[in-house]
Amino acid sequence: MSKGKVVLGVSASIAIYKSLEVLSKLKKRGFDVRFVLTKESKELISPVIFKALTNHEVYDDVMKELDLDGTNITHVSFAKWADVFAIVPATANIISKISCGIADDPVSLIALATDAKKIIAPAMNSHMYLNPIVQEHLEKLKSLGWFIVEPVEGELACNTVGVGHIADENHIADSIESCFYPDILKGKKIIVTAGPTSEAIDPVRYLTNRSSGKMGFALAKMAKYLGAGVTLITGRVCLETPFGVRRVDVSSTLDMLNALKKEIERENELTVIMAAAIADFKPEKREDKKIKKDGNGGFGLHFIENPDVTVEIGKYAKSLKKTVKLVGFAAETHDLLENAKKKIEKKGLEFIVANDVKRSDIAFGSDYNEVVIIHKNGEIERVERSEKLKVAYEILRRLAW
Ligand SMILES: Cc1cc2nc3c(=O)[nH]c(=O)nc-3n(C[C@H](O)[C@H](O)[C@H](O)COP(=O)(O)O)c2cc1C
Repeated sequence: MSKGKVVLGVSASIAIYKSLEVLSKLKKRGFDVRFVLTKESKELISPVIFKALTNHEVYDDVMKELDLDGTNITHVSFAKWADVFAIVPATANIISKISCGIADDPVSLIALATDAKKIIAPAMNSHMYLNPIVQEHLEKLKSLGWFIVEPVEGELACNTVGVGHIADENHIADSIESCFYPDILKGKKIIVTAGPTSEAIDPVRYLTNRSSGKMGFALAKMAKYLGAGVTLITGRVCLETPFGVRRVDVSSTLDMLNALKKEIERENELTVIMAAAIADFKPEKREDKKIKKDGNGGFGLHFIENPDVTVEIGKYAKSLKKTVKLVGFAAETHDLLENAKKKIEKKGLEFIVANDVKRSDIAFGSDYNEVVIIHKNGEIERVERSEKLKVAYEILRRLAW
């Protein structure tokens, strides 16, 4: 089933390939996509490619007759069909035309005709991007509700480095996907912890756990989609930072605790979601030099307990008179509900999300999860097995009080 309808407008930038990369991301995420092309863009990539990759006719001429919904007038039917209209890439020319209400090509025509949410991903040489005329037009579009996926500094086609390089395709796809969610967390500040912490044995070795960080990253991404200001404090993971999320990298459990304390100092009110798999124990002693083989058959390690990070930040917030709501995760292998309930009280949680890390079809490393949400009043809710992003939505919508 389609997750939503996206019209991608394409203009004649050197970054035109990005429209196909974004298409690929959107298709994988389950969106239905149609293409609208400016006349000039057809000089850079043939419309045949856009048609072949979507299996749908493209709207590439204002006089072309295509009908998506019985409206009979092509631009009206595309404009009505779209839930989101995104221009990827957007040239200086198309930005300026749209801002002035010119509608002489399929892309600017749809821009004027549609009520859909609108996104623009500019791409151009830095002189063009920083030109006050382009900036003025972008500001005007912003003030009219367009979301600008800002270009970044990078290599430009003119063999220089500067701002104007089109944003990353995942970031553009994230911005589009976020349009499909209500901003129920707008104005809230949310900290998500993710991934494993690791405890050093010597300068080259460490002990860690199997957390991939996927659940925490999904929570951070979804919290951003829902309008929150999000900071993600993460252990060592191989995941891309979600668009618009501030990321802080940490290593050990103590690093995680210190990073959380800093966030609490910065804000008066926040919600902390403890999705990280925090090491409960650490080697008592960290060797300063790499431990060498000495032919004696190995060595032993003695572990000591790490502080309980959630309890500690609860106490810290209280000492600073800050309002911090805490949400815990319980990665259990047995007595799931009993263990989770004990943690709510001990750690002062709003609710706890319990998952069974023994199962290979969910939790650690998987893109899926199935959880039980246990509230402090004892109420229990089950979230059936689904993608972690969907599970994240189910968790976060319970924070929209
Ligand atoms: C190879 C090539 C690359 C171009 N790249 C860009 C670009 O990245 N950004 C931009 O604003 N204009 C770029 N231009 C200029 C636009 O194509 C030109 O302004 C054109 O009129 C834009 O038409 P459109 O906005 O209707 O697609 C490029 C032109 C050529 C020939």
